[in-house]
Amino acid sequence: MTDHWLDSLITDTPQQGFELAVLLSRRGVKYTQPDLSILQKLRPEYADSADALTAASQVVATNFQTVAAANDYWRP
Ligand code: HEM
Repeated sequence: MTDHWLDSLITDTPQQGFELAVLLSRRGVKYTQPDLSILQKLRPEYADSADALTAASQVVATNFQTVAAANDYWRP
């Protein structure tokens, strides 16, 4: 994957920061498995699994920690 997609971790709001954390998490999966047909095949498995969704949420939470720290927790 060579496309340029990330310029900065800095966001205007915490919500945008959370959305960036989701994007980072999804990109991580796509870098790991670039074959879209496999991602599409496996999507129903994790979409229906409470454990898999909790694991995905944990990846987002980890990335959100990084984004929040990069933004100094959006302190004024
Ligand atoms: C869709 C998040 C892991 C395959 C989505 C969507 C979100 C999301 C938010 C919905 C996007 C939308 O409809 O606007 C995540 C997170 C993950 C994760 C946070 C873990 C870090 C995975 C894994 C796979 C996968 C492990 C497959 C192996 C897909 C596919 C879609 C999708 C194929 C598109 C479904 C469709 O609309 O047709 N994901 N995902 N994701 N995810 Fe994941």
